[in-house]
Amino acid sequence: MIDVDRVSAELKRYSQFQKLADQLAEQLAKRLAQYLHGDLEKWQQALDALPDIKPSTVDLTSPAVKIGGADDIDKATRQTIIQELRKIHPWRKGPFDLFGIHIDTEWRSDWKWDRIQPHLQPLKDRLILDVGCGNGYYGWRMLGEGAKYVIGIDPTQAYIVQFQVMQKFIQAPNIQILPLAMEDMPQNMQAFDTVFSMGVLYHRKSPIDHLLELRDSLRQGGELVLETLVIEGDERSVLMPQRRYAQMRNVWFIPSVAALTLWLKRSGFKNIRCVDMTKTTTEEQRNSPWMTYQSLADFLDPQNPDLTKEGLPAPVRATLIAEKP
Ligand SMILES: C[S@@+](CC[C@H](N)C(=O)[O-])C[C@H]1O[C@@H](n2cnc3c(N)ncnc32)[C@H](O)[C@@H]1O
Repeated sequence: MIDVDRVSAELKRYSQFQKLADQLAEQLAKRLAQYLHGDLEKWQQALDALPDIKPSTVDLTSPAVKIGGADDIDKATRQTIIQELRKIHPWRKGPFDLFGIHIDTEWRSDWKWDRIQPHLQPLKDRLILDVGCGNGYYGWRMLGEGAKYVIGIDPTQAYIVQFQVMQKFIQAPNIQILPLAMEDMPQNMQAFDTVFSMGVLYHRKSPIDHLLELRDSLRQGGELVLETLVIEGDERSVLMPQRRYAQMRNVWFIPSVAALTLWLKRSGFKNIRCVDMTKTTTEEQRNSPWMTYQSLADFLDPQNPDLTKEGLPAPVRATLIAEKP
């Protein structure tokens, strides 16, 4: 699914990635030898069946990442593209506008980007790691802000193929989305100017280890952008669901902003601030023809949308920004 040697050669063009390139190639080869998703071949065939078209325009600054226009393709090609893309289901993060085909993803990821982006150190010329990057929607938006190079990592292989769909048409030389988890990354990289971890912390059994890994991946003075589920409360308030949270089985710790601030402080970050706290609405997260499984509305208590079906506080997400001293 990935040409490991090509990834390594590409990264070696950047002095900061010299050591990292070989280590990443090794980890990638190991991961791919260990596990390939049962549907990977089907997704790969869908990717290969897409026509070779050079888009007339690419706009990475618009809310829907825009590749080409409706006039670039005829009706039959449009049908082929829709049919093949639907095979790489579910489309969770976006939206994308591919040759006038609007990929209406489960999440309005552009809304989160609009809330966070104004608070970031300008991304221009920065080396960026996006942990749990999904299909790379935010990576494209980072390039739209002038980032020098974006490495995204995500263990979910369907999302890597979705990224490859967009890359087939955009052919950007400075972005890679790799099928790796944060735990697979080399230790103490100290390579990145900005590291994003959005929607990952609550999936980790050991959240403090995650914060330490993020810290060690940053260069001195680098910026962490941490987005996660939070609850109301003080420094001692942390929710650990008994079982599921909003139907998700893999949610471990949901801290208050105060507790998370303390975790970041104890993990060696400074200048920690919460720049956004937003309750997720059923307009921001919902199903669509591109994501036909259940979504937020199905996970909330029908009598009281302030609670999940499990009787826990409904999802609220916060973004904290912090600096590595
Ligand atoms: C809730 S989604 C968030 C996606 C995107 N960052 C966003 O904010 O919209 C969480 C993503 O993290 C990925 N993920 C889960 N555990 C991870 C880990 N240990 N390392 C890296 N990514 C992980 C999942 O595959 C999933 O795509």
